[in-house]
Amino acid sequence: MHNRDRLILFAGRSGQKLGQSIAQCLETELSPREFVQFSNENIKVRILENVREADVFIVQTSSPPLHENIVELLISIDAIKHASARRVTAVLPYFPYVRSDKKDEPRISITARLMADLIAAAGADRILTMNLHSPQIQGFFKIPGDQLDAAPILCDYLRRKDLSNTVIVAPDAGSAKRAGAYATRLDLPLAILDKRRSDDTESPEILHVIGEVEGRTCLIIDDEISTGGSLHETVEALRHLGAEKIYAACVHPVFCGKAVERINAAKLEEIIVTDTVPLSEKDDAVNNLQVLSVAPLFANAIRSINEGESVSALFR
Ligand code: R5P
Repeated sequence: MHNRDRLILFAGRSGQKLGQSIAQCLETELSPREFVQFSNENIKVRILENVREADVFIVQTSSPPLHENIVELLISIDAIKHASARRVTAVLPYFPYVRSDKKDEPRISITARLMADLIAAAGADRILTMNLHSPQIQGFFKIPGDQLDAAPILCDYLRRKDLSNTVIVAPDAGSAKRAGAYATRLDLPLAILDKRRSDDTESPEILHVIGEVEGRTCLIIDDEISTGGSLHETVEALRHLGAEKIYAACVHPVFCGKAVERINAAKLEEIIVTDTVPLSEKDDAVNNLQVLSVAPLFANAIRSINEGESVSALFR
């Protein structure tokens, strides 16, 4: 069989779990590669299959060890490209440094843009990602990029619950548009919290609430839960305002620092996340956690890209 346009799927170390699930949905297998880390921390990636003229996808997400995983991705793209693949798509379910997306202090790097530049410089022809922290990050990509949305997956799950008396909660003004889209999809009212961060201490403060939460079931919607600081503050504010039950849903379960303790202390009815970031063993301790897989959506997008079909058709 000749390779032209053949879909070949690889996964880096952080993309193994999701990559396997995507491969299963595509009724294929992850292609073999060799990964070596030398005593001097240098990394070697060797592609163990002929990829000449093939349409190659490599799955790697942003998770610890973050910087090793980024370099591993860049080296893998370079290796695939120099093995004469026709096209390489970097599949990044959770994009690295996605929150460093603006110059909000003097003399800092817009690191999400730098990441996009590095991926393109390594030789990627396309990027496939999911729910970027802000839509303008798409403008950082000099190569074509597709941004998938986990909202249909999360909303399908949420619709199976009793949503009477429920209000969608945006934890800050920046997330109001995103949470508003969930409110529209689920036909629910929206409340917006006024959260401010005064420095880099990861301890935001809730100042005001717009909307009715007293006596209601609150469903907090966020793009990611990182240290759990925002979630903690949001839950405290909602309880103070008389919320009856509290659920939280987010796309990217980054779960770093004190996240597990904070989530459990929040005593949520349920916390619903996706598998864009692999959960570690310590995350098994998260109470009432429901993980929904984005693998079928990524598999459909990969198939559409390979066959030259529309990707936006997957958002309906
Ligand atoms: C903030 O702008 C984001 O939408 C999330 O609320 C934030 O990234 C969560 O971070 P953490 O869990 O560390 O508060």
